[in-house]
Amino acid sequence: MAVAPACSPRLPLPGEPTTLEILPRDLPPVLGGSPLGSPLEILDLRHFSSVDLRPLLEDETQVWSRLLSWDYSGSAEMILRYIDAKILPGYAAVDRGRVFGYSFFVYEGSKGVIGDLYVINGTRLPNAREVELKLLTHVIETLQQSPGIHRVEAQLLAHEANAVSRPFLETGFQRHPRLFMTLTLGKAATEKVPTHPDVEIRPWTESDYQPTAAVITAAYRSHVDAQINDQYHTLSGSLRFLNNIVRFPGCGVFDVESSFVALDRKAKSLIGVILCSRVRNNVGHVTQVCVLPEYRSRGIGESLLAATEGSLRKRNFVLLSLTVTEANARAVELYRRLNFESKRIFDAFVWEG
Ligand SMILES: CC(C)(COP(=O)(O)OP(=O)(O)OC[C@H]1O[C@@H](n2cnc3c(N)ncnc32)[C@H](O)[C@@H]1OP(=O)(O)O)[C@@H](O)C(=O)NCCC(=O)NCCS
Repeated sequence: MAVAPACSPRLPLPGEPTTLEILPRDLPPVLGGSPLGSPLEILDLRHFSSVDLRPLLEDETQVWSRLLSWDYSGSAEMILRYIDAKILPGYAAVDRGRVFGYSFFVYEGSKGVIGDLYVINGTRLPNAREVELKLLTHVIETLQQSPGIHRVEAQLLAHEANAVSRPFLETGFQRHPRLFMTLTLGKAATEKVPTHPDVEIRPWTESDYQPTAAVITAAYRSHVDAQINDQYHTLSGSLRFLNNIVRFPGCGVFDVESSFVALDRKAKSLIGVILCSRVRNNVGHVTQVCVLPEYRSRGIGESLLAATEGSLRKRNFVLLSLTVTEANARAVELYRRLNFESKRIFDAFVWEG
């Protein structure tokens, strides 16, 4: 199954069945009633259909649009399809027969990834935060007790940092604060950024697949983001990451026109890459940017970002967003210098059993 990459908030949705494992395991069929003073129940998500979940996901789509300028409707439709197929493990919060919150997760080999958590904050309903914590407690417990699961990852982009950290911290997760940053793309043309004379920036193509995965693997060696997303540790993991970005719509729709590579002119080898997706018709999101360690501090990262920005501006995009781990100080510094503003702080969590 697909996994949330460390450089983006994409949903871990079931991916390509031929290469990615879809193995829904049995959850306890029903978890008992409510200690919250209401008829709240936490039930296995697979008792429900898209009809039950649709109002919740429509509400969530509005929240993602407001908070992140992100069109979540494609992801929501995908989630609803998986719910109908009964292959999405997770829990629903139910009050008088109505689903008003849910959380799901996916398995990928020996790893579990918490895909989403959302609770409607209605006046008639129990305290939304309490319900979120309850859903998370069930999800974490299920994953940590799943035989063969040795690692759990979560990135909760639409939740403020620390808002729901308690059940994670109490069960041995590491917390990594991350920033959601945006750059407003005005009408003005992108300032010309002189590219290093030994470096060529050209559009990304399908034939760059393998070398891109190799650059990602090398660029994240001993990097904090490789602690958050263990796909970066190996070439096959980086290929899977890439596959999810390029082929699946969980992190927006891959935008080949605003994705570029940097090449060493002499060695003719790929030394850096930027990948961008369309998360709304006029909003881009950088899902990956990296440069090989030995080529850093020559302005290549800046040139790649300028190429993406230029392509988006030409097509009247209004915003470019990205996520970055707070501890990745050099990258944060670079984005700030390029006028990206920090809009939100959210958390990534990792548990290794
Ligand atoms: C983040 C990353 C892509 C930046 O790439 P880069 O090519 O080193 O970036 P740049 O060279 O454009 O800018 C970085 C610094 O080099 C400086 N620089 C640029 N040209 C330079 C030159 N000719 N000589 C010396 N320094 C230079 C810049 O001023 C900048 O310094 P600052 O951060 O202190 O302001 C790269 O560090 C990387 O791949 N990191 C690992 C993966 C990663 O963290 N990706 C981002 C995830 S969100």
